[in-house]
Amino acid sequence: MVRYSAPLLLSCLCLSLLLGSSESQPRWYSNHKHYYYRGSRATHLGFPRGSQVRRSYWQNDVGLIMTASGAAATLPYRTAVVDQSGHGDFKTVQSAIDSVPSNNTNWVSIQINAGTYREKVVIPKEKPFIILKGRGRRRTKIVWDDHTSIECPTFMSLADNIIVKGLGFVNSYNYGGSSDNELLPAVAAEVSGDKTSFYGCGFSGVQDTLWDNAGRHYFKRCTIEGAVDFIFGNAQSIYEECAIRVVKGGFITAQARETADSPSGFVFKGCTVSGVGLSYLGRPWRPYARVLFFKSNFSQVVDPRGWDPWNLSDQNGVIYAEYGNFGPGADTSNRVSWEKKLSVDVWEKMTSMSFINEDGWLERQPY
Ligand SMILES: *[C@@H]1O[C@H](CO)[C@@H](O)[C@H](O)[C@H]1NC(C)=O
Ligand SMILES: *[C@@H]1O[C@H](CO)[C@@H](O)[C@H](O)[C@H]1NC(C)=O
Ligand SMILES: *[C@@H]1O[C@H](CO)[C@@H](O)[C@H](O)[C@H]1NC(C)=O
Repeated sequence: MVRYSAPLLLSCLCLSLLLGSSESQPRWYSNHKHYYYRGSRATHLGFPRGSQVRRSYWQNDVGLIMTASGAAATLPYRTAVVDQSGHGDFKTVQSAIDSVPSNNTNWVSIQINAGTYREKVVIPKEKPFIILKGRGRRRTKIVWDDHTSIECPTFMSLADNIIVKGLGFVNSYNYGGSSDNELLPAVAAEVSGDKTSFYGCGFSGVQDTLWDNAGRHYFKRCTIEGAVDFIFGNAQSIYEECAIRVVKGGFITAQARETADSPSGFVFKGCTVSGVGLSYLGRPWRPYARVLFFKSNFSQVVDPRGWDPWNLSDQNGVIYAEYGNFGPGADTSNRVSWEKKLSVDVWEKMTSMSFINEDGWLERQPY
């Protein structure tokens, strides 16, 4: 278990004190709460009796500590702090992510203090097990305005096993103003890794705001804003208690399920749909698009026809369905004829967590 010899650790400590912290040079020994080993834990690791050892927040030589009762407990994940004014370990979100070792196998947490971070952020494929924690979607925001194609989002999450909490992602192109710019794809976030969850996050943009591209994802109490195809892609996702805000008329979803046996689909549970203009619940980006709205609150923003066929001449493969929705937009009497009626069994299966969580990955995430 011991991968770091005592002299090495201690000399690193001295070195880091000499170097201090800087943006490009991670501060290897942070002042964070948990990262002390003392007493028997320290001697067990080979340190002299009585030593108190501070360790780097990303070192992963030990996964267990002893609690007061003597039982082994999972070591709380380690935390680095991003703070624009320099009171943390990093000044930018990307530099904190870059400091995580490649092929990391332990959960690490990056806490992002309040502020508007004007940067593009990527979690590369080889950096899994990262928790990004903002101070709330309105207080901690990551903002950029790239556009023209869907390939240049503000935030790109490519690794598996990612948790994001209390963060706002904005693509500011055309967003928030009375801009006359041409409507173009302007993605705020792309989610392409498996086992990724978002809690209390915000996704803001106009066209193609959230590219829910691939993998199994869970969105809880998030706010998603846009006008055209603003929740789109081929992922397998549950959106629970989310607020969907139409900033002007268009299409809420553009799901991209490709084949009849693909597990992908978007399930909206207990959400609210509101905003200005008149919007379709979705249009199929691919012939087997699957989108379900369940027990959600629809304002009059929902177009009475419900769904748009886009360029599909045959809508047979498309699975668009609604159950138990309420509010002025929930009347289904004028919906397109090709909206599906699903059996109670299918509704139960699709709206339970097992739709995305059959192997229990969500429970294993430390949140
Ligand atoms: C991480 O894992 C990948 C895939 O196994 C491997 O190609 C890559 O070299 C590894 N990177 C490091 C820094 O260990
Ligand atoms: C419909 O048109 C869009 C935009 O040109 C295209 O991306 C999509 O693949 C088309 N869908 C189908 C099912 O052909
Ligand atoms: C539905 O949403 C509207 C706002 O769009 C809100 O005023 C209303 O209270 C909601 N209804 C319920 C039952 O939550």
